[in-house]
Formats: sequence, structure tokens, C-alpha cells
Amino acid sequence: MRDGVSQSQDISAADFARASQLIHRLAGLHIPDSPKNRNLLKLRLTKLTRKRGFENLSAYIEVLLANPFVEAPDFVAALTTGVTSFFREPNHFTWLRRRGKTLLQQGRCVSLWSAACSTGQEAYSMAMTLADLDLAKTFHIFASDVDRHALDHAKAGIYSTSSLVNLGPSERAIFKKYSDPVDPEYIRMQEDLRRRTEFRTVNLHDESSWPEATFDVIFCRNVLIYFRSAEAVAILLALTQRLNLGGHLVLGHVEAGLPEFIGLRGIGHAIFQKTSDVRPHPLPKATARQRA
Ligand SMILES: C[S@@+](CC[C@H](N)C(=O)[O-])C[C@H]1O[C@@H](n2cnc3c(N)ncnc32)[C@H](O)[C@@H]1O
Repeated sequence: MRDGVSQSQDISAADFARASQLIHRLAGLHIPDSPKNRNLLKLRLTKLTRKRGFENLSAYIEVLLANPFVEAPDFVAALTTGVTSFFREPNHFTWLRRRGKTLLQQGRCVSLWSAACSTGQEAYSMAMTLADLDLAKTFHIFASDVDRHALDHAKAGIYSTSSLVNLGPSERAIFKKYSDPVDPEYIRMQEDLRRRTEFRTVNLHDESSWPEATFDVIFCRNVLIYFRSAEAVAILLALTQRLNLGGHLVLGHVEAGLPEFIGLRGIGHAIFQKTSDVRPHPLPKATARQRA
């Protein structure tokens, strides 16, 4: 966990351990014990504790552990980091423009997966990039996250105009074409783009929640850094099985160092191509109660 927070720490060691074990079980996230993480957990869970009307953090954690199925969505939303932006890591979209052209020119439906899409900016950036090629619009974006609240935002497709201020001129021009003003402070992605982008809850830590389909391109960026490396590699292998032969997996730049493994060839900028089939490597299954 990377947010900058002050160093006060009055979450007990026992409560920290219980909460960090639970988030690992529910979503696979690894939150090592450190003063910074204790403080971060305390800040985020204190908000939730107040919202849910509990007297203190320990009381909330008791109820959480007794009813993980009921409480999990809010707990998972509170402890995941959803930082994202439109056209984040822009060279991935420059590459997608080139690759998308080749794929769309093959005349079949191109399928893409944004595998930890947060509030949807990544998925809509993919959709705008492909739509803007002005070829037949035969593509479908499957976009997913473990955080249901983030997905509600993504489905609505409404964003503050302040989230566009850091875009370059070409991205702004694309935006003008594919979004409509709601009022001076908000825009909404156009209906055609929203129709091509399907948002669903998928837990990368629980393969039984994954889509059955295979994809031409999978973006799985800036999420595996929160997993232990052995678990991250197991997820990468399982993602690779969801790629069509010749398909591409795009990781966050900070994740490019994750080991290159059988069947994947790095082509630069944390982009990997599947050049042969990989061995099956099932992930541990979470139970229905554990699922967020
Ligand atoms: C930092 S955001 C990255 C968003 C986007 N991919 C990007 O690069 O801008 C990390 C996202 O991963 C999601 N996440 C965390 N654990 C997950 C899990 N087990 N399964 C699916 N998504 C998860 C979080 O909810 C959050 O929205």
C-alpha cells in the first residue's frame, strides 16, 4: 500500500493481523505489517467503522469476521487502491492503436479484457482508441474489478472534467468525439462506447469468477504489485491461458520485472505476446463465503 499518511498507529497488532489476513483471503492482497500500513489500515477502516455505526474498529472487525459475505464488498472497497486515469501509461495506447488496426483489419470481432479496471478509465481509453481507428467497430471490451463500488461508477461512465486536465491534445480531441457534456463539471462516455464495454465483478484471486472467454488483448495493470510474487505469477499464468495464441498481455510498467515465463515473449514497455500454449496452473479456489 502506497498512500502517504502520517505515522500515528493505534490499530492493535491483533486487529491489524485479522484485517490483513482477511483481505488476503478475500482478494489476495498482501499488506505487510509496517507503521505506514498500520496507519493506512486504521484510517480506511475507521471511516468504514463510523459509516457502519460501530463503536470502534475492534467491534467492526469482530462483525466483519463473523459475516464476511455481507460485509466483504465495503471492506474490499476500503482496502483496495483504485488510483487510475484516462490513457494512463500512454505508450500502451500508442501500441494498442497499432495492434488494434491489425486485429480489426482481420474482419472478426476483437475482444479485450481490462482485468482490474477500477472506475473504468482504462477500459474506456481502450474503447476510444479502437473506435477512433475508424474501421468497422467490431470489438468488445470486457472490464472487471473486485471492487463493486468502483464498477458502479464505471458502468455509469460519468467523470469529472478535472480528470481530463492532464491529457495531451490528441487524447483531448479523442475525448471530444466520444463523450458528451453533462454539465460544466462532468462528461459522460457516449452510449455506443458504453454498450461495447461490459463491466463485471471478477476476483483475480478466485479463478472460478473469471470469464470463460479468451481474448486478443488483456490489460492487467497496476494490481499485481499488491500480491505476493508467487501468487502474481500464478495469476499471470492463468491470464495467459485466457489469451488467444498470438494475443498480448499488458502489465503496468512497475510490474514489467515479473518473471517472463513459458509461452510469453516480452516485446517492451511491459507488453508480452503469447507465442505458444502454457501449461494449466489452477489458482487456489476461494469459497463462496470468501468471495468479495
Ligand atoms: C491501482 S488500480 C489500477 C487500475 C487500472 N488498471 C490502472 O492501471 O489504472 C488497482 C485496481 O485493482 C483492483 N483489485 C485489487 N485486488 C483485486 C482482485 N483480487 N481482483 C480484481 N481486481 C482487484 C482494485 O480494486 C483497483 O481497482
